[in-house]
Parts: sequence; structure tokens; C-alpha cells
Amino acid sequence: MTPNLPSLQAVRGTRDLLGETVQKFRHIEQLALATAARFGFEEIETPVIESSAVFKRSLGDTSDIVMKEMYAFKDLGGDELVLRPEGTAGVARAFISEGLAQNIPLKLFYRGPMFRYERPQRGRYRQFYQLGVEILGVEKVQADLELLSLAQMFLEQLKLSGQTKLNLNTIGDKESRAHFRERLVAYLTKRETELSQDSRERLLRNPLRILDSKDAGDHKVLIEAPQLKDSLNDVSKKFFFDVLNGLTALGIDYHVDPKLVRGLDYYCHLVFEFQTDALGAQNAICSGGRYDGLIQDLGGPQTAGVGWAAGIDRLAELSNLNVEPLARVALVPMGEAAEHACLALSQGLRKSGVAVEVGFSGNVQKRMKRADKLKCTWAIVIGDNELQSGRVAVKHLATGQVTEAGFDSLLNFFVDGDFN
Ligand code: HAM
Repeated sequence: MTPNLPSLQAVRGTRDLLGETVQKFRHIEQLALATAARFGFEEIETPVIESSAVFKRSLGDTSDIVMKEMYAFKDLGGDELVLRPEGTAGVARAFISEGLAQNIPLKLFYRGPMFRYERPQRGRYRQFYQLGVEILGVEKVQADLELLSLAQMFLEQLKLSGQTKLNLNTIGDKESRAHFRERLVAYLTKRETELSQDSRERLLRNPLRILDSKDAGDHKVLIEAPQLKDSLNDVSKKFFFDVLNGLTALGIDYHVDPKLVRGLDYYCHLVFEFQTDALGAQNAICSGGRYDGLIQDLGGPQTAGVGWAAGIDRLAELSNLNVEPLARVALVPMGEAAEHACLALSQGLRKSGVAVEVGFSGNVQKRMKRADKLKCTWAIVIGDNELQSGRVAVKHLATGQVTEAGFDSLLNFFVDGDFN
């Protein structure tokens, strides 16, 4: 009888990151970190698990994430925990529990896995990876502008700015939103029967989200709906005007999308998404906005906040990065004596910072193939003849050009000589 084996597939919506993909991930993270460092950001790492309350109180009880997408569980001690669905709420929680209010303004960078129980599709996973930045304690529009400038610079470095478009909107301050909500609900209630089932449910819970419905029937109803911009008070209007003005000064193109409202309840004033046409339905690659009430909602002092997060999975799929080769020099020893001779040589090279791949198995062709696959720059076959003569042929793999060198001089050559 065969015992019942557990499924050995990765869990639906999760995947193993291998080879070039994982290299791309690291490269993207490093690039983001280095770019953020130019703006004075420092790193923070918050736990992957948080109390459920952190997300319920911040994202909103009625948000899609909290209602349908959280990986929530009780641990063995009976605590209600969640695998974090996003990074901002955890950073806000850390701000309060670590007493960071004294250090404002704070500029924080984070990265790591996030978890949402969504329907998996291209560019949408249940375990996905974000890198994000938050500025805490700055009410002024300068913070929003620094963050947009950072996002744009980062996308430029990834050579993605040509494929992305910045869409933005204002959802105003609390007062403006309350005013708009009232007008919107009054209008939509009159036309409730024409709305999709989803939107009818949202009408009670989260009416603003109806604005970004994908349903054609909803679109028709929305044509004559009240506009958010008509409910903005003077403070909200000025804030948004200053954002747009600043973007012009920075030379950053943007498109105002009055329907962009975003799915998380903590936002106010600016919301934005860098979108692409190249990934199908999952078109947002970097999104965020301002959240001046979040820290207070979580029980902390009134503190302004603004930030964004980018999906690393989506960035990696979009970008044509040339990942760094794993090794620069391939040593191909044939025979035991050569293998022995390569021990000290490879160690010396590695100590001096040169990445070396030593072929372990197979004939010369197979070992050379591996050197090619690893995109090594140089390959050296070392057999009994080479050991006897003390001379080796150093092959440049891209051009096929061969240079002869003394075995004993290889270390010097690769560390500070002709083969740099
Ligand atoms: P979000 O729009 O929910 O915002 O996610 C940010 C980015 O994460 C998205 O633009 C997308 O690239 C990526 N993403 C989201 N869900 C998935 C998924 N299931 N699979 C792959 N990628 C995904 C936030 O999370 C906010 N915390 C952003 C923020 C920071 N707002 C202020 N500060």
C-alpha cells in the first residue's frame, strides 16, 4: 500500500523563486534601496505576522483586504494573528510601539513578502513581494513630491519609465470626503437597481470604491454621478494643486484620473498609481498615497504619513535586466592532479574578490557548457599537459579569443592584471 503523501506542489498562488528570477528580485531591491538612500531613507523590518487588529483598524473593516483576503489564524496561545497583507500598517504600528514619534520626520524603506488571499493570475500572487517607502511626520506637500520623485527615478533606473504612466487623484481631507460620500450615496441609492451586486454591497460599506468598479452597467450609472472634485474644500484643493505644480517643476508627467480611489481606507488627499499596459489586468506596479489619520486610528499621536509600495514580482516580470553573471572565471580541471592544483588557485582568486566556478563533473565540453551558461567571462582548461608545461590557455568566452599565460601568474592576472 502506498502511504498518502502530502502534496508537493507549492501552495496555490505561491511559487519558488529560482535562478534569474531571484537574482532580478535582489537587483531590484538593491537598486531601490540605493535610490532611496539618496533621499535619506533608512531601512526598517517589521514582522511578517501582526495582530489582526493592526489591519482591521487601519485598512478598514470594510476594505476588500480585511473582508476577503487576509490570511488570519489563531496561534497556539489563542492570539488572533495575520500574515501581513501590506507594509504600511505594520510600519505605523512600529512607529507607535517603538516610540518613534520623537524622531520625526522619519523616512523608512522596507521590503519583504506580503500575503493576500486573492484569485491568482498573471502578476497576482497570494504570496508576493513589495518594496515600500513611507515618510512619517511631514504634513507638507514636499513629502509627497519627494516620494513621487523617488518612484520616478527608481523606475527610470529600471528602464521602465517609458512603459509606465503616473495616474493620480485627490480624495480630499476627511471633511471633503464626508461631504462627497453623502452626495454619492444619495445619488446611487436612487439608481441602486441598476448597480452590480458588488456595488450594491459597497453602497453600504464603502461607496467610494464603486467609482473604480470594472462593471459596464456601473459605468453607465457613474456618468452622471456627483464628482469628488466638486466636494473638495479649499484646503484639499490647495494641497492637490500644490502636488500638481510640484510635479511640473520636477518634470514628471502625470494624468489626473478622477476615478482613482484605491482600496485601502486609510488614504486622504493624494492617491496615485504608476500603471503599465504590459502586464494585462494587473496594471499597477507602484502605488500609494497620503494617510494623515492612520497612526491616530491605530491609537498613536496625530502624525502625518505618505508612502508607496511597488510589487517586485511585477517589476521583475516587466524589466529586461541583465543580471550579473554568477562567476567571472571558470576553471576546468581535467584529472586529479589538476583538480588539486585548482584548489589553491580558486581559493586565492576568491579571497581577492574574483568569482570563480570550478567544474566538478563531466567531460571538457560539458564543463565548458556550464561556464557558458553561467555567463563566465573567462574559461581555463587545466590538464596534465598544462601542469607539466606550466602554461595555460585563457579563453574569452564571448569572443573566443585565447591568450596564453603562466599557471603561476593567473592570480596576478585576474586580480590586477590584463584580465580585469
Ligand atoms: P497596494 O496598491 O495594495 O498598496 O499594493 C502596492 C503594490 O503591490 C501594487 O501596486 C502591486 O504592484 C503590488 N501588489 C499588490 N497585490 C499584489 C498581488 N496579489 N500580487 C503581486 N503584486 C501585488 C499597498 O500595499 C500600500 N501599503 C501602499 C502604500 C504605502 N501606501 C502608502 N504607503
